[in-house]
Amino acid sequence: MAAGAAARREPGPGPGGEKRILCVGLVCLDIISVVEAYPAEDSDIRCVSQRWQRGGNASNSCTVLALLGAPCAFMGSLAPGHAADFVLADLQRYGVDVGHAVPQPAGCLPTSVVIANASRGTRTILHAHGNLPDVTAHDFELVDFSQYKWIHWEARNAAEQAAMMRRVERYNRDQPAAERVRTSVEVEKPREELLPLLGLAHVVFISKDVARHFGYQSAPEALQGLHSRIQPGATLICAWAEEGADAIGPSGELVHSDAFPPETLVDTLGAGDTFNAAVIFALSAGRTLQDALTFGCQIAGRKCGIQGFDGIV
Ligand code: ADP
Ligand code: FRU
Repeated sequence: MAAGAAARREPGPGPGGEKRILCVGLVCLDIISVVEAYPAEDSDIRCVSQRWQRGGNASNSCTVLALLGAPCAFMGSLAPGHAADFVLADLQRYGVDVGHAVPQPAGCLPTSVVIANASRGTRTILHAHGNLPDVTAHDFELVDFSQYKWIHWEARNAAEQAAMMRRVERYNRDQPAAERVRTSVEVEKPREELLPLLGLAHVVFISKDVARHFGYQSAPEALQGLHSRIQPGATLICAWAEEGADAIGPSGELVHSDAFPPETLVDTLGAGDTFNAAVIFALSAGRTLQDALTFGCQIAGRKCGIQGFDGIV
């Protein structure tokens, strides 16, 4: 901890003394219009339904972790205003610890307008950033690592997040194996400045967008091509929608799970966040990489068969 920073008083372990999983990244408001068919430009149509839903990758992963029964916490920026009150109350409703949510004095809560096409399961996202600064390595100094078994980052402000990850590594060096905090990062956007984060976590999730950015046409191809960018002994995972997901484990073993398509594809918004959360849940409970990948695809498949997240377990 840096001089002068006092660790926040953490709420203590979850039921049964279980340590928490912390997710660092975005919380936003999703305004979701469910439509029968994707609208034509300049048309005026009725939606099947419309709802406000808390969104953002890290926040969605917290929802899923909470539904799976894992004690978890969210760390990310909050803007002032009613929309932020809505997402904060919703995190609390799911039992997600919000003691590390950082209120920012100015800016708007990022908001996505989402067109969810119920007949095809596609989600078209129009995201407004809201000029809200991300949490910093300084904010992260308040985290008391002894309360966490796993910390996951959604790659955003890479330089600050790299400093956060290095701090966890320094902490781990002085800990016995059982007390070390495991780390993961999701690199979803193909932005050059995010790529150094691939080499800093124990488990790395890359999206098919990132894979395609590097010219790979499948998950196994991407894993082979990008494996040299992760640290020795780390795990690289790539999910690929209806193709399921692939991974390379700590000793170079290749693992695959098929997808588990729902009877009817209803809503794929947050499928990747669900997959990440379920994989982290399983790995943090000591399950094998194959088990974790299969579990991730099962839970993500269930999510694709329902609107929102309630009902995935
Ligand atoms: P996102 O676009 O939200 O990042 P991905 O395409 O990475 O999601 O998919 C994550 C996981 O969700 C996949 O590995 C798969 O298990 C599941 N999934 C996503 N789309 C589908 C689909 N159309 N059918 C079945 N499973 C899906
Ligand atoms: C889904 C999601 C949405 C949010 C958008 C932000 O993965 O987190 O909830 O609107 O992505 O990019």
